Amino acid sequence: MELNLSGMVGQSPCLDEVFRVLGKVAPTDSTVLVTGESGTGKELLVRALHANSRRAGKPFVPVNCGAIPRELLESELFGHEKGAFTSAIRTRQGRFELAEGGTIFLDEIGEMDLSLQVKILRALQEKEFERVGGGKTLKADVRIVAATNRDLETEVQAGRFREDLYYRLNVIPLHLPPLRERGDDVLLLAEHFLRRFCRQKGRTPLTFSSEAQRLVLSYPWPGNVRELENFMERLSILCEHEVIGPVDLPRKILDTAGVSLPVAPSACATAGFRWPRLSDLTERAMGLKEFLDAMEEKLLVEALERAGGVKNQAAELLGIKRTTLIEKLKKRNMAGE
Ligand SMILES: Nc1ncnc2c1ncn2[C@@H]1O[C@H](COP(=O)(O)OP(=O)(O)OP(=O)(O)O)[C@@H](O)[C@H]1O
Ligand SMILES: [Mg+2]
Repeated sequence: MELNLSGMVGQSPCLDEVFRVLGKVAPTDSTVLVTGESGTGKELLVRALHANSRRAGKPFVPVNCGAIPRELLESELFGHEKGAFTSAIRTRQGRFELAEGGTIFLDEIGEMDLSLQVKILRALQEKEFERVGGGKTLKADVRIVAATNRDLETEVQAGRFREDLYYRLNVIPLHLPPLRERGDDVLLLAEHFLRRFCRQKGRTPLTFSSEAQRLVLSYPWPGNVRELENFMERLSILCEHEVIGPVDLPRKILDTAGVSLPVAPSACATAGFRWPRLSDLTERAMGLKEFLDAMEEKLLVEALERAGGVKNQAAELLGIKRTTLIEKLKKRNMAGE
């Protein structure tokens, strides 16, 4: 059967391996634990898992255990009876009941309290649970899939995560590698997102110059696929030409690669001078101060070069006092001897 990847893009060997295991485990009812840094696609992978399971026609219910206040999480998961606590004005079903027949996705499970972990373990093993404040035991036909960006083994050692639950969850581990380990997938994904965002905005798809490609590939993408996706959206809005060059890339990428560019490249073009625009700042993800500092630095360097390092002359070229120039250079550790 063809695997439905729910739009997950990637061809690198490490991702292929993830897809291979996904194809095997999806049709079973086994518990799966997805790990990976933030933004690596854990949620997308879990959705693909559900889509390829016999539960696909039934609900997929995600619960972000890290985003729901601790005191509310139990009732969110298992529901509550009327009067169970002050704000429980009526009986309410929990997400386990809402997921009946389908899949419940316990995201950021590493954030869950030890006391609640016991109840999750029971729901996993006995398929049973109770609503908060309720005496009746309810049955759940729900597949549990969990994800975390914490290292649960460390959490277990530190006494913050129950060992029995960890082993019970970790029947089938699926690890999503960080983007920086996926080789050319970075470009594949970048082009995928650019196509999507450009289509949404009704503009011709942008492409990368080979130098820009090299820079995108060499950046370590600490925010993984989410960071890449957000950045491609920004390019699809801000990039003024059809081919993305190094000047269009954010400062972070250029700095990491040690590339320095003229601050306002178009100001150097033969077409003549133009004042910087707000887009010059936003495209480089720079604040006003940072931008002005960078611009000043360019001019200082140029003046010094033209004056052959003679500070008097450079100051004259800049129309400032020698002492002011020296002060500025000192601030930047450029004062020399
Ligand atoms: N392989 C991929 N192909 C296409 N889009 C992807 C891929 N991986 C992730 N994405 C997209 O990147 C974004 C982040 O993915 P997702 O929310 O699944 O990450 P996550 O690992 O759950 O992150 P977090 O730990 O921060 O919750 C989403 O918009 C998702 O659609
Ligand atoms: Mg997530």
